[in-house]
Amino acid sequence: MKNIIIEVKNLTKKFKNGDAELLAVNNVSFDIKKGEFIRIIGKSGSGKSTLLYQLGLLDKPTSGSIKISGVDTKLLNDKQRTEFRLTKLGYVFQDYALMPSLNAQENVMIPLLMGGNSTSFSKKQAQDALDKVGLKTKFNNYPSQLSGGEQQRVSIARAICNNPEIVFADEPTANLDTETTTLILNLINTLNKSGQTIVMVTHEADYTKSAKCVIKLSDGKIV
Ligand SMILES: Nc1ncnc2c1ncn2[C@@H]1O[C@H](COP(=O)(O)OP(=O)(O)OP(=O)(O)O)[C@@H](O)[C@H]1O
Ligand SMILES: [Mg+2]
Repeated sequence: MKNIIIEVKNLTKKFKNGDAELLAVNNVSFDIKKGEFIRIIGKSGSGKSTLLYQLGLLDKPTSGSIKISGVDTKLLNDKQRTEFRLTKLGYVFQDYALMPSLNAQENVMIPLLMGGNSTSFSKKQAQDALDKVGLKTKFNNYPSQLSGGEQQRVSIARAICNNPEIVFADEPTANLDTETTTLILNLINTLNKSGQTIVMVTHEADYTKSAKCVIKLSDGKIV
C-alpha cells in the first residue's frame, strides 16, 4: 500500500541482564500511515521507549524489520542510516538528551549542521523552532540554566527544526504545566495537520485527547 510510511514486521528487541534475557519488545507488527497521529501507551517498563528507539533508528532491533518510506532500514549502512535520521526523522527524547556544553540555540542547530545546512540557515531555523516552543528569551541559556520543562522544549525544538516527515516524541509533555502542555500539544497537532506523521509515547490517562490511533504495550507486546 502506497500511503504506509512505517511498516513494522515481527520486531523484537532483547536485552541481556546477566544470564537472563528480557524481551523489551516482543514480536510486534503494525503499519503507520502517512499523516497519522499514533500514540503508544502502556505501563512503565512495558517497552514504549525501546520501541520508539528502534523506530527512530537510534538502536538496532534484535530481529524483525522496519521499513520507513519504503526503505528497509536494515539495508542502510551506518552513514546512510545517520543521514536518513537527520533528514527525515525528528526525535524528542524522554530524558531530553541535550549537550550540557552547548546553549539552547546551539543544541537545536546540531542536527541541522550535521545534515549539511549552512550556519546562518541553521541558526535561523533553530531560532524559529525555539520561538515556537515559547523559548524566545532563552536562546543563550545552557541546559543547566534551564528548568526541566524548558529543557524538554529545547528537545522538542531540536526535533522539529528540520521539518521532518516523522516526529517521534517520548512523553514530550511529561514535565510541563497545563499551559505549556497545551502549547506543545497544539504545536504537535499543527505539525500533524500540515502532513507530518507523529508517533508519540504518552501516559494512558490522557490518551483520548488527540490521537485517533493507539498502540498499547504490555510486557513488550501489543495488547
Ligand atoms: N539498555 C537496556 N539494557 C537492559 N534493559 C533495558 C535497557 N533499556 C531498557 N531496558 C528494559 O526494557 C524494559 C522496557 O524499558 P522501556 O524504557 O522501553 O520502558 P517504557 O515503557 O518506556 O517505561 P517508562 O514509562 O518508565 O519510560 C524495561 O524492563 C527496562 O528495564
Ligand atoms: Mg520510556
